[in-house]
Amino acid sequence: MNLRLMTSADIAAGMRLKDIAGWNQTSTDWERFLRASPEGCFVAEVDGKVVGTATTMVYEGRLAWIGMVLVDPDYRGRGIGTELLEKTIDYLDAHRIPTMKLDATPQGKTIYEKLGFVTEYEIERWTLKRAPGAATVTAESPAPDLERILSADREVFGADRGDLLRSLDREAPEFTLMTSSPGHLTGYALGRRGSRADQLGPWMARDEASARDLLDRFLRCSGRETVFVDCLKENPCTRQLVRSRGFEFSRPLTRMYRGPNTHPGQPELLCAALGPEFG
Ligand SMILES: CC(C)(COP(=O)(O)OP(=O)(O)OC[C@H]1O[C@@H](n2cnc3c(N)ncnc32)[C@H](O)[C@@H]1OP(=O)(O)O)[C@@H](O)C(=O)NCCC(=O)NCCS
Repeated sequence: MNLRLMTSADIAAGMRLKDIAGWNQTSTDWERFLRASPEGCFVAEVDGKVVGTATTMVYEGRLAWIGMVLVDPDYRGRGIGTELLEKTIDYLDAHRIPTMKLDATPQGKTIYEKLGFVTEYEIERWTLKRAPGAATVTAESPAPDLERILSADREVFGADRGDLLRSLDREAPEFTLMTSSPGHLTGYALGRRGSRADQLGPWMARDEASARDLLDRFLRCSGRETVFVDCLKENPCTRQLVRSRGFEFSRPLTRMYRGPNTHPGQPELLCAALGPEFG
């Protein structure tokens, strides 16, 4: 088994692995990882075939996100996932990134625990299946103040991920939503069109009415048959809200970190995270 840097020539192989796992990313998402972290995305190869991947994305030079940890089912249980993780940790350590985070599936969690990751909080993937509707795919008018959203997200997430959010907004501006009371931002949401579903997140609201308004506007804009949202379990109103709109629980995720969690952000304001691959 050989570990090497991932390049754009490996995107098709990455798409194959994520399709097997039933994940929602697109080729554009892989391009995003490679552009943001050209020296920090890796593949595992056996006899010239890509059988595993892991990506990193560094926010503000102090918080790294690890994602896309995937191993071909035919090659699991041989230590490849662990070696990919060790490779990303070595890379991030060499760049003196103090904090690493990820959202673990139950399958991945034991590997991460062995490598020193601890639980921060629990996340739940909720899925809406509905008849395809007529989407209102027009962007909000007037356009929401993206800079205000980015500045709020910096506080809520705990690091600046403006480049990433700007790229999501460029691709699906109709999903960039904001609620406000005079002079005061009360909520925001962004979204993306994945390979299997539209995904809402990040979704932040200071009160229930804003949370509801953002969710309903997102669902109207999307119109897609399948919609995902990764809700923070500790936010009780979110769960009730998504359930009332027809979402069903699909799977648990655990947000984990390694190193000091010195900038935890304000998860109590978050209804839903951006997604396991980004944070
Ligand atoms: C999670 C995933 C990446 C693990 O990949 P993997 O290559 O099977 O991982 P490893 O082989 O390093 O570890 C898996 C198990 O095999 C064991 N193992 C490690 N080296 C081994 C070896 N040489 N021989 C036998 N078993 C070994 C590990 O101890 C581990 O056991 P545990 O589950 O009790 O902790 C893989 O199952 C996968 O792609 N799952 C679907 C996507 C997913 O959930 N990804 C994680 C996202 S957070």
